[in-house]
Amino acid sequence: MYQLSFDLDSFLAKYWHKQPTVIKHGITNFIDPISPEELAGLAMEEEVDSRFVTNKDDHWQAQHGPLPESLFSQLEESHWQLIVQACNHWHPGAAELVAPFKALPQWLFDDLMVCYSAPQGGVGPHIDQYDVFIIQGSGKRRWQVGAADEGQYQESIQGALRQIESFDAIIDEVLEPGDILYIPPGFPHEGNTIESSMSYSMGFRSPKEQELLSHFADYVLAKEKGDVHLHNPQMQTQRNHGEILRSDLTLLTQMLQSALESKQDIENFLALNLSQSRHQLDIVEPEEVISQEQVCAHLEALGHVVKVSGLRALYHANNANHIFINGEEFSVAEPAFAPILCDQASITLDSYSIESPSWLALLTRLVNLGYWYLD
Ligand code: SIN
Ligand code: CO
Repeated sequence: MYQLSFDLDSFLAKYWHKQPTVIKHGITNFIDPISPEELAGLAMEEEVDSRFVTNKDDHWQAQHGPLPESLFSQLEESHWQLIVQACNHWHPGAAELVAPFKALPQWLFDDLMVCYSAPQGGVGPHIDQYDVFIIQGSGKRRWQVGAADEGQYQESIQGALRQIESFDAIIDEVLEPGDILYIPPGFPHEGNTIESSMSYSMGFRSPKEQELLSHFADYVLAKEKGDVHLHNPQMQTQRNHGEILRSDLTLLTQMLQSALESKQDIENFLALNLSQSRHQLDIVEPEEVISQEQVCAHLEALGHVVKVSGLRALYHANNANHIFINGEEFSVAEPAFAPILCDQASITLDSYSIESPSWLALLTRLVNLGYWYLD
């Protein structure tokens, strides 16, 4: 079990969205949860996002996964890096690294990216628009971080590496196993590998106003909200043909605002939106329909009903009559179900009374959708 050696509250107050920092031994006695061979195996899978970046003679190239097996049988000694996104969705050991960060909200967490890098390997200087905790596993890497928004984008290489010009470092440190580098959005950075290295990037989303508005517009259309036209029975003539009257502006502004006035719609939209994952999940619907009796018997036999790793299940504080899973809304009979399903990784006999038909029915439905499975 991984544990942070520092207090997350004090960390947030001092650094979050403010400045990058290195936390030496942020996780003590760190042991890699996944091997380079396992990582290569994931990179060969169709449904896993991966990249292989080389930089020999300063010639940057990126190849997108699924990566062929042949690539791994003829690797150079240096100047390459393998990057696999959302390893927490596919590798139970890697998923354990997410646990120590669970005091940060699930809706903000994106995924755990794992990198294996040969000496001198990296992805070059770049800027990310999200918060990241880079946990150093085995090996050593030198990290340089510059001041916010310094450096300009160079032409991207195969769209995969949005590199910038070099920058002046405000942090320049060699990370060793268990050290953590935190980088807020907008700070240029570059990692350079000294000894073959495993590193783990806990990435957090950075919702953008533009995107929220655009996605909300999609929601409005999908739910057929605001399907009304301008209604102005007080219409009068005006002197100047080209003028937009203040009174008309007010009417049109009200039309725009009314969509955003429904607290209910905003709540639903946000939870639906935030419960969607940006990376594929290991969701497998059972081949045969599983009955309520089977779920009940499984729990009675002390089996677990486990949530698919990385599945996003959310509920609103003060309104736990609905839960939002992977972009779908579910009504729940008891508000008590929401925290059990959304906060916990698995369900046991003790989680809730199996005498409750609505609890068993909901659990069975989620199992048949492949969101939870019998373990
Ligand atoms: C890397 O490990 O080099 C990529 C991680 C990052 O810079 O975000
Ligand atoms: Co980065």
